[in-house]
Amino acid sequence: MAIQVFPSPIELARAAAREILRQARQAIQQGGRFAVALSGGSTPRLLFAELARSGQSDRDVWDRTHLFWGDERMVPPDHPDSNYYWANKLLLTEIGISPDQIHPIPTAGGTPDELARIYESHLRRFFDPPQGDFPRLDLILLGVGPDGHTASLFPGSEALGERVRWVTACRVEANKTHRITLTLPVLGRAGRVLFLVAGADKAPIVARILGPRDREEPPLLPAQMVGAIARAQDWFLDEQAAQGGSK
Ligand code: 6PG
Repeated sequence: MAIQVFPSPIELARAAAREILRQARQAIQQGGRFAVALSGGSTPRLLFAELARSGQSDRDVWDRTHLFWGDERMVPPDHPDSNYYWANKLLLTEIGISPDQIHPIPTAGGTPDELARIYESHLRRFFDPPQGDFPRLDLILLGVGPDGHTASLFPGSEALGERVRWVTACRVEANKTHRITLTLPVLGRAGRVLFLVAGADKAPIVARILGPRDREEPPLLPAQMVGAIARAQDWFLDEQAAQGGSK
């Protein structure tokens, strides 16, 4: 696990963009395509803009990249709370990627559970792993909430305990909304997970997640559970988020 600390959110975003494009070219060279799940929330917005900046000069990447989402809120795709909305506004509209390479989580036309099953069926058709295995995305981008949640896997939630389904619906009690999320086994099966965390408000949770664990520690937080099973995990932090001692 590598922890890299950057002076500012924009420098974190630039480094993350460089690293994602590097991994994409490696995956395309080795397997002909790059499958990445984008994270939600506000942190990745600078990253999306940075990835879009070099759009045409990265044609070799975007022509062979498939974009998925780690989670989605149950709002329309043109709603500012939608994770797809920001990726589309800042990245997809800039890089001219083919619609059949964009795999958003559906948020209309069924219940959250029905839509989660629809997304899972879509993933099964696309990845078609050996019987009983989970899909192997090359990279999953993740953020972390102040409570240690990642994607939409919240501490103590039923979704966090899901070990069979690839995609599940969950209810966020804090704001009485529903979300759809990839499950822990899928996050763990990826070739690599890259946590992007910025801001002073994340310093305490970053210090708890990346700091030394002692015996009295409560159960692992969702972001720690992903890290515990990830094939490879890296953390890109800005100095504000790392000020809790993760330098
Ligand atoms: C979401 C995310 C969620 C997010 C963290 C951090 O849909 O909100 O998937 O896991 O990454 O809550 O959010 P911020 O980047 O807004 O701090």
